[in-house]
Amino acid sequence: MRVVKTVKQLRLIIDGLRRKGRTIGFIPTMGYLHEGHLSLVRRCRQECDVTVVSIYVNPKQFGPHEDLQRYPRDIGRDSTMLKKENIDILFIPSDNAVYSSGYLTYIDVENVSRALCGAFRPGHFRGVATVVAKLLNMVQPHALYLGQKDAQQVAVLKRMAADLNFPVAVRTVPTMREADGLAMSSRNVYLSAAHRAQAPVIYKSLVAVRRCIRQGERRSATLVAMIKRNIESNSEGKIQYVACVDAESLEPLKTLRHRVLIAVAVFFGTTRLIDNVIVLIKN
Ligand code: PAJ
Repeated sequence: MRVVKTVKQLRLIIDGLRRKGRTIGFIPTMGYLHEGHLSLVRRCRQECDVTVVSIYVNPKQFGPHEDLQRYPRDIGRDSTMLKKENIDILFIPSDNAVYSSGYLTYIDVENVSRALCGAFRPGHFRGVATVVAKLLNMVQPHALYLGQKDAQQVAVLKRMAADLNFPVAVRTVPTMREADGLAMSSRNVYLSAAHRAQAPVIYKSLVAVRRCIRQGERRSATLVAMIKRNIESNSEGKIQYVACVDAESLEPLKTLRHRVLIAVAVFFGTTRLIDNVIVLIKN
């Protein structure tokens, strides 16, 4: 595993690999890695000749009152984990390497960025789209690996890649969960013991509505109410939103059809957790 810190050094290595005809897969992360991140790494290793992972806590995707300063970081532990996975390149750019002084350029993926989390985190997806566009230009991968856990991020970045002709295949990897169903997240470490014990109610409520849909329920309002009731009556979680939307456009649906994304954001104390399921409606 080569640890690379500058864009210049990265370019040199990538140019050499591309000249040799190697396929390059890329997993952008903000570090503090867990099995969820590693599932992306393993999928990439299976499918590409070269696996590049980046670790960069992107300040532009954090709101002024969000957790940028306290976002968990442990580069030593992360690099040991990645070395064990036999990745080829670990790219750890500094803030200066990513955003030069006088930086002015941003990518706004309209509509898709405004739905769900975007309504509560203004500027978040503008920051995500901008940094991922920049990282794609730095790494020049053939394939980009993203986790389904962040379903809106997937929708935004797929739209961006298509709209701006990035020559990259966007591949989505299923959400990795703890044994009790809680979606793995770097932010789970913030949870108190009591909240950690309650948090699996989120996924349980999603599984329950999926069952309901299989039994024929198609009304979005009924399903949303079910999830809210389930979480509110079984935990101290404070719901930010529950929504049934089209999985690609993220437009709200009254009646379920095609590929439906059912997405939830819940606060446990000051920790915000998200989760989702995708359901295919055949009739
Ligand atoms: P981060 O939260 O570190 O996540 C990096 C990647 O890991 C994302 O694609 C995310 O969806 C995926 N991931 C996280 N938890 C997962 C889980 N439980 N199962 C499967 N995949 C999971 O997402 C970001 O960083 C940033 O927004 C980034 C794309 C790096 C841009 O800064």
